[in-house]
Amino acid sequence: MRLKNKCAIVTGGANGIGKATARRFAEEGANVMIWDVSDEAGQAHASSLRGIGVGADYMHVDVTDTVAVNSAVAAAHKDFGRIDILVNNAGILRDGQLVKYKDGEVQKLMTDEMFDAVISVNLRGVFICTRAVVPIMIKQRYGRILCASSVVGIYGNFGQTNYVASKAGVIGMTKVWARELGKYGITVNAVAPGFVETDMTASMPEKVLEMVTARIPVGRIGQPEDIANAYLYLASDEAGFVSGATISVDGGSVTGT
Ligand code: NAI
Repeated sequence: MRLKNKCAIVTGGANGIGKATARRFAEEGANVMIWDVSDEAGQAHASSLRGIGVGADYMHVDVTDTVAVNSAVAAAHKDFGRIDILVNNAGILRDGQLVKYKDGEVQKLMTDEMFDAVISVNLRGVFICTRAVVPIMIKQRYGRILCASSVVGIYGNFGQTNYVASKAGVIGMTKVWARELGKYGITVNAVAPGFVETDMTASMPEKVLEMVTARIPVGRIGQPEDIANAYLYLASDEAGFVSGATISVDGGSVTGT
């Protein structure tokens, strides 16, 4: 029961890594607020978490919407009396090359919309949610802010200008906030997952999947629970001296294989 009576918000907590994280936190005794835009899955997950005996609720919260985020923070604070942990997990992909050039011609560009959509959820959303909870955490003199980066935020990746910019930006914001907020008992860390089996990666062709797996030193792709366990460690009291870090959870891909 490493998170007994703690109160956690997990953005994008209806599916994939966020869903596994919300469950892992609940199993360790935390009350959990799931924020997502995937209403049916979010409601069902909150109800299943209540079944294991913790407080759990779902709210439709788009992390790009400042007004919605601020009012959801106020509601969560009212319900739970405190907010101990924020997991900035919500994220999207809109992949494409900066310039796709073939047969002597420009075939496609990454559009402004593709760039802005990904930055808006993956980077601006992290900023909006963190800004909303920090005043409460400062008053409590306690907080754990956790942010979803990615192995590609460290290494870059073909076809992911927008996504890589957002995930590298998250690493930067994590370091800034660790410096600014440490004196209030708030730690801020990022997790950089490698390839994890979720809806986000489900559309990948079988052949590419095999190639990706072959390059992972531990010989398998990640499961959402692998990442949830890293978030659990960072959220726990055992990680009280860890701040400003980006922890790679990628089966060894960080070695650059
Ligand atoms: P997923 O697509 O399975 O789940 C993402 C969740 O975020 C969904 O429930 C979706 O409805 C929600 N979401 C999307 N836009 C939202 C918004 N504007 N407001 C609130 N919720 C929103 O994705 P997955 O794979 O679980 O990824 C979770 C995080 O981990 C993301 O930030 C992703 O970039 C990151 N990540 C994932 C990796 C992977 O291989 N799956 C690798 C590295 C990082």
